[in-house]
Amino acid sequence: MQSKLPDTGTTIFAVMSSLAEECNAINLSQGYPSFNPDQALLDLVTHYLNSDGNQYAPMVGVPKLRRAIAEKVALLYGREIDPDHEITVCDGATEGLFSAIQATVHPGDEVIVFDPAYDSYEPAIRLAGGTAVHVPLVETDENPDYHIDWDRLKAAINERTRLLIFNFPHNPTGVILNASDLDTLAEIIRETDAYLLSDEVYEHIVFDGAQFHSFIRHDELWERTFVVSSFGKTYHATGWKVGYCVAPARLTEEFRKIHQWVCYAVVTPIQHALGDYMSQSPGHYAELPRFYAAKRDRFCELLKDSRFTLRPARGTFFQILDYSKITDIDDVSYAKQLTREIGVASIPISVFCEQPLTSRQLRFCFAKDDKMLEQAAAKLCQL
Ligand SMILES: Cc1ncc(COP(=O)(O)O)c(C=O)c1O
Repeated sequence: MQSKLPDTGTTIFAVMSSLAEECNAINLSQGYPSFNPDQALLDLVTHYLNSDGNQYAPMVGVPKLRRAIAEKVALLYGREIDPDHEITVCDGATEGLFSAIQATVHPGDEVIVFDPAYDSYEPAIRLAGGTAVHVPLVETDENPDYHIDWDRLKAAINERTRLLIFNFPHNPTGVILNASDLDTLAEIIRETDAYLLSDEVYEHIVFDGAQFHSFIRHDELWERTFVVSSFGKTYHATGWKVGYCVAPARLTEEFRKIHQWVCYAVVTPIQHALGDYMSQSPGHYAELPRFYAAKRDRFCELLKDSRFTLRPARGTFFQILDYSKITDIDDVSYAKQLTREIGVASIPISVFCEQPLTSRQLRFCFAKDDKMLEQAAAKLCQL
């Protein structure tokens, strides 16, 4: 059979997780918590599983969940969203991203992604007949955080540019955008026909008092943006694969034309449970920055005497460790070596980049219980 994605192998997350299992290593590679959702949420799911709500949900999502999302968006991002025409519940953020890309990208179109880029974007772009144009995030002496080089972005935009994909808080580097970044972006794309896709799955995980700037809040950007988020990251339930897409009505209409043929509808009892839980426990996401900042700080404290250099983590639940003082081998080989030889699995960040990387950095997920972080750090400190 002629492959439609000839260059696509198995995602690095599956590769590293199965290597971790094979080597009985501590798995800090894939981005999922080692702990369960709140018991109250699990009880709601159990309740709905035992009710008669186990048949197909409405194609766009259960109304009470869409209303709860709209309330949250109004509260946090200051925009009144119509839950009937501007919100769609998806089969995880992954499906939301895929459907948004299929809805906008036509054969011959170009889509801008920022490297390191989450690995589901490019295959979806290719399947739509488009081409991914990779713009690297840069580290400079003036700004050592990874950030967008606006001149490079401007140079990459042309009349074929149909979509730009953003992901802040950013996986894997943990950087965030500030309000003026969104204004700069608005100015750059003002005269273009390009759409925006903002992958905001880590919207509630930002640290050190920083404010998260959703594209929903920005009047000008909002008009052309699909915002995708994930309940998995917010409610410690990545295995449920439930997310949502918020977009203006005319964009949502096209989005739903794809969504209905990709999965039609999303798991019913979990939607009911999430809808109730969001209304009953609105404080859950407000607690997440403190919760994950404590984990980040603990992990960093445990590693402070190691030979790794800790990169700033402003958001998400990932910590980048620079290992250039330890060895010069490439990151894919080193991630595998660490898994096999010292028993800690991580993710090499070059797999998210088109150009080979000279930096020596690995991504570690700290959404793990303290014991796991302590054991992993003790092993990493031996190096
Ligand atoms: C940046 C980013 N986008 C999307 C996803 C996928 O989210 P979901 O599990 O809800 O499909 C992930 C999961 O790791 C992610 O890190």
